[in-house]
Amino acid sequence: MKKKYLLAPGPTPVPESVLLKMAQPIIHHRTSQFSEVFRRAAELLKYVFQTEQDVLILAASGTGAMEGSVTNLFSPGDEVIAVNGGKFGERWGKISEAYGLKVHWVNVEWGRAVDPAQVEKVLDANPGVKGVLCQASETSTTVAHPVREIAALTRDRDCLTVVDGITAVGVFDVPMDEWGIDVLVSGSQKALMLPPGLAFAALSEKAWRFQEKARCPRFYFDFAKERKNLAKQTSAYTPAVSLINGLLEALTLIKEEGLENVFARHLRLAAAARAAMEAHGLTLLAPESPSPAATGVYVPAGVDGGRFVKYMRDEMGVTMAGGQDHLKGKIFRIAHLGYIDTFDMIIAVSTIEMALSKFGHPVELGKGVAAAQSILLEGFE
Ligand SMILES: Cc1ncc(COP(=O)(O)O)c(C=O)c1O
Repeated sequence: MKKKYLLAPGPTPVPESVLLKMAQPIIHHRTSQFSEVFRRAAELLKYVFQTEQDVLILAASGTGAMEGSVTNLFSPGDEVIAVNGGKFGERWGKISEAYGLKVHWVNVEWGRAVDPAQVEKVLDANPGVKGVLCQASETSTTVAHPVREIAALTRDRDCLTVVDGITAVGVFDVPMDEWGIDVLVSGSQKALMLPPGLAFAALSEKAWRFQEKARCPRFYFDFAKERKNLAKQTSAYTPAVSLINGLLEALTLIKEEGLENVFARHLRLAAAARAAMEAHGLTLLAPESPSPAATGVYVPAGVDGGRFVKYMRDEMGVTMAGGQDHLKGKIFRIAHLGYIDTFDMIIAVSTIEMALSKFGHPVELGKGVAAAQSILLEGFE
């Protein structure tokens, strides 16, 4: 018997009560019973997104909300900036190019956060730029980008800050309205503790004005149509009924814990993961601006990162993520977002220690666990 642990930065584990809600018999979506679930979930989403605006609920993976943001806000030929410091920043640019936008790539070394001055320089040199597209948390490099500062740069320009909060919303503080973020998107399979399949998008008043003028082709992801339907407690097309049952339960759990406590938990788990790795002298991928969602760590010289991650998954039952693109085989990523708590971190750290030992890397077993424990203890009264 091998017990399985999912400690990857998405999909993430799903709480038992959410699983049970999703196992309920399907009800028809054009009924008052379903509308009530939809209405309550939509209301709680505003709390989690920290916005007064509607949060659109789409049946799609997170990328659907990214694509919808591009097509609903811009027109072919529009200029945008894509902050490209990882796989998902690159995705913003690729989606934009697919719809005929002109992309100014702000390239950032993987593992580092963008310097807002870099963005400002491009904005100043190109006054026609209509949007800055970036990640609050770039999952591929485990970096948190300074989206607050970026939003401040576009506030007084005819330009939107469009933020992918897929591993940020419900992980750490990204108050959309307070920071003046124009678009914030997320997905279900991360901090919202659900299976994959739902995407979310919230737009500021300014973004809705852009929406009226945007001319990119679109059909399924028509935000104006979704907003109209949301006002009637429904969605334009058949919603993912079971996922929305689960969503209401997951959001209720978040509300009960309280956003501040949720953020504190993520910060504590992230600090524990970093301390544990540093106790072993391992090098962090993003030491300067680490995301509270996941911690990227370089595998020590002589260890094949691909085999290492596979060994932890297949032989030890613990799934963590490896690296993407040029970081493939070079790093592993410990996730600490969503339905992940103190003792999941102990499992993660002890798995890494044991696997390193199996791979012949000299490691003092328990040293990282002890470093993590002393931080995790702070979570108890
Ligand atoms: C920051 C970020 N953006 C975008 C995505 C893509 O989301 P999806 O795979 O749900 O389309 C992910 C998924 O890992 C992500 O972490």
